[in-house]
Amino acid sequence: MHIAFAASECVPFSKTGGLGDVVGALPRALAELGHQVSVYVPRYRQTKLSDAQTVVRSITVPFDDRYRFCSVVSGGNHSGVRFYFVEYPPFFDRDALYGTSAGDYPDNAERFALFSRAVLEASKILGVPHVFHCHDWQSALIPILLRTQYAEDPAFRDVATVFTIHNMGYQGLFPPDTLPLLTLPWDLFTISKMEFFGNVNFLKGALVYSDFVTTVSRKYSQEIQTTEFGFGLEGVLRDRASTVTGILNGVDYDEWSPQTDKFIAAHYSPQDLGGKLSCKRDLLAAFGVTNADPRLPVIGIVSRFAAQKGFDLISQIMDRLAREEMIVVALGAGDKQYEEMFVRLNKQFPHKIAVKVAYDNAVAHKIEAGSDMFLMPSKYEPCGLNQIYSLKYGTVPIVRATGGLDDTIEPWDARTGRGTGFKFTEYSGEALLRTIKQALQAFHDQNSWQTLMRNGMKRDFSWNASAKEYVRVYDRARQTRGALVHEPPEEFAGVASVSHQLAK
Ligand code: ADP
Ligand code: GLC
Repeated sequence: MHIAFAASECVPFSKTGGLGDVVGALPRALAELGHQVSVYVPRYRQTKLSDAQTVVRSITVPFDDRYRFCSVVSGGNHSGVRFYFVEYPPFFDRDALYGTSAGDYPDNAERFALFSRAVLEASKILGVPHVFHCHDWQSALIPILLRTQYAEDPAFRDVATVFTIHNMGYQGLFPPDTLPLLTLPWDLFTISKMEFFGNVNFLKGALVYSDFVTTVSRKYSQEIQTTEFGFGLEGVLRDRASTVTGILNGVDYDEWSPQTDKFIAAHYSPQDLGGKLSCKRDLLAAFGVTNADPRLPVIGIVSRFAAQKGFDLISQIMDRLAREEMIVVALGAGDKQYEEMFVRLNKQFPHKIAVKVAYDNAVAHKIEAGSDMFLMPSKYEPCGLNQIYSLKYGTVPIVRATGGLDDTIEPWDARTGRGTGFKFTEYSGEALLRTIKQALQAFHDQNSWQTLMRNGMKRDFSWNASAKEYVRVYDRARQTRGALVHEPPEEFAGVASVSHQLAK
């Protein structure tokens, strides 16, 4: 089967968060299962390409006032996946992907509409897939256009669409006159389509028009159908409940493993944890925490600084936490109020709370390896990747029981020696502080702590199983389009490809 991904970020070409990690890794896992996979992303200033080749010279994208002409560049074939970049420098050759500290770029609707239309047009030349797999609001127009303006286009007659929600908190909301600006018909502006409290909602349109909707953990797929987590779209999701599935994200252990990580001071494994202490020393040095007793537990944070991540709880408890025997090491950037909060806390407790306000992949790896615990008290968390990386690094997660955090972390029980981390449910500073104190207490018993570390390190969250679940969703989506799915059943796929090779 040919699957085309369309998304706004993809590792190693562009990334602001977990979406980039997923779009970088899932296509490779699908290619390993024998599928043909293409990935379309915008070509940003930060996208570094070694062998870029223009493969589609000029695509015309209509806007109300004029036409814009963009092109598509090939980034080559890596691990069986073809990468294509939509190039339009006035929109994408900018400092950041989505906006600056002053806010989102005001023309984001136009930027990602151009991207979505360019993907559809380019695919007619580069190969129409069996399934378009789109991610978050930035590629939401693809399923919408396919069922509206492109509905009669014979090239796309049987094409199925799968849409993955990575975060309900970002919907692509724009004023109504965005529709004529993007040359979209006014009949999309109804409550059953893209209209949302007087605005145009890209995400809503994708939820209405895609054949199947997935999200990135089982728990989050249920939560988003409730008022607490649905951000106003819970009703739309409930209407489509029979086509909504939760598939847990995998992680890429080629990038995130203490046995091979190229950013950390020493390698280690469940059999030999020795190197972790060197990683801890290296981490503390990188944060300028000198003279600290390396036996003190280090609590790591790597995060976008956004309300979603539970920083209001952290701000409630920090004064009291700073009295405990521990060190907090935080890396993040985003909302000014949280950047300032951490800088203030660092000034107040220089020996206890260290911070880097930055986006820095190497430091993120050092924190995973050098910390003893990893803190993620999220208000909501569709999946979360850092707690899964932490497990692999023997860095024990302390999480709130929501979304993917709840699905991936099992509470530690010292009596049975089972479990992988510490969890709390109530969204309050008290519950968070109580749970951190439990973890600090457990850390004193280093024998059982090592059992806890190893429990997590042995867990396997690689992509293989989840990629197979996506294939099942693609098949079902194609069936709803009426396409006969000719591929052999999954268990025979390997045999088929072997006999194909023999025949050659
Ligand atoms: P989200 O996508 O909501 O930000 P995830 O846990 O799914 O949360 O993924 C976050 C990804 O972004 C991880 O790979 C993490 O290491 C990375 N990341 C987040 N903040 C930073 C930062 N300040 N510097 C480097 N990497 C970061
Ligand atoms: C989003 C979510 C995060 C998830 C990531 C990748 O940014 O906030 O929980 O892990 O997407 O799916």
